[in-house]
Amino acid sequence: MEIRKTTLAMVSAAALMLATSTASAAGKVEVIHWWTSGGEAAALNVLKKNLEKQGIGWMDGAVAGGGGDQARTVVKARVAAGNPPTTMQQLGFAILDFADGGFLANLNDLAAKEGWDKVVPNALKRFMKPDGVWVAAPVNVHTTNWVWANKAIFDKLGIAQPTNWDEFVAAADKIKAAGITPIAWGGQAWQEATVVDALVNSTGGTDFYKKAFVDMDQAALSSKTMVEVFQRLRKLKSYVDPNYPNRDWNLATAMVINGEAAMQMMGDWAKGEFIAAKKVPNKDFLCFRFPGTAGSVTFNSDAFAMFKVGDDAKGNQAALASAIMEPGFQAAFNIVKGSAPARMDVSGKDFDACGQKAIKQLAEAANADKMMGSMAHGHAVPEAVKGAIYDVVTNYFSSDQSAEEAVKKLAEAVALAQ
Ligand code: GAL
Repeated sequence: MEIRKTTLAMVSAAALMLATSTASAAGKVEVIHWWTSGGEAAALNVLKKNLEKQGIGWMDGAVAGGGGDQARTVVKARVAAGNPPTTMQQLGFAILDFADGGFLANLNDLAAKEGWDKVVPNALKRFMKPDGVWVAAPVNVHTTNWVWANKAIFDKLGIAQPTNWDEFVAAADKIKAAGITPIAWGGQAWQEATVVDALVNSTGGTDFYKKAFVDMDQAALSSKTMVEVFQRLRKLKSYVDPNYPNRDWNLATAMVINGEAAMQMMGDWAKGEFIAAKKVPNKDFLCFRFPGTAGSVTFNSDAFAMFKVGDDAKGNQAALASAIMEPGFQAAFNIVKGSAPARMDVSGKDFDACGQKAIKQLAEAANADKMMGSMAHGHAVPEAVKGAIYDVVTNYFSSDQSAEEAVKKLAEAVALAQ
């Protein structure tokens, strides 16, 4: 439990007593989220419409910024001021922080009535149901170790989907030689960390990933393998265009869609952008696992954490949670979002080729004990440790620091942040 103590838990009890949501009282639910890209907004719209049909109004609290850092900052301030929204899109350890602070509602009655326990996998329950209390409704499972590629470029250059690092380097060299940017890179900390998740998994394998990014093992963090991870990250920089700093992830996806770049390494929310642009898997674009990570996945699950609200607002909040957990909605939403359903009993038959691949590979990885929480997306290590890793990665990527020096900093930063 020590690990879950946060400053949030120290916010005064007075703030908690004030914590009733005015928006919900007025027949609306206030939903804070960071789904502002084309694909994300289209997916969220499925939820909005569902609620509208039930006569429940939607007060939109969009806070732009992929990965959600900005949105989390906003909600922390709202909670500290005793004015939480009805709900917020949340990830992994951040949910536990709010639960530890005593800010989240108890959804156990609804969960029991609707049988959530039977359909939500344990890997998610760990975050949705801390200490036996359902506090959040999971809407999806994204996997993050993907490459999204422009098929026309691959075809024109006769490139096959690379399955390991050497093949990847050969493919990227060929693309570069043809005058095309091999990798569409978004120079923001969370995006770079997303690629590092994949590099750690690919370079060291799943056991190494677990040691380094789940157990926070000092030997793994400061190992030769980790030096190689950072060397590979440096190599990736040679395939990136000069305008990468601070580029949003969806603009990077657009580069692949438009043929300005050949590949993006990103979670499967990127597919939402291809779909929103009316692109078709295996015709216009390819989805394949980050070279060297086949058989395993790193995942993050978007959930809606429900805050404590006044009695008059509880009905709408429960209706929202129920709408999120409804199997038909989970299919409709995730087809658009690019993710797999959070419920295990939802059929994948209506998903496109990449979606079906995601659902199948997620199940296979879970059975083989190769389904691992994404460090970059808050499902592997506590928030403070995640932030410390972000800093090391992004400082390294934007400087000439050596891989050895970065690894030293990584081990120190993780030890300090725990
Ligand atoms: C992730 C989130 C996804 C996605 C992405 C980019 O953290 O889980 O749903 O949209 O950020 O904003």
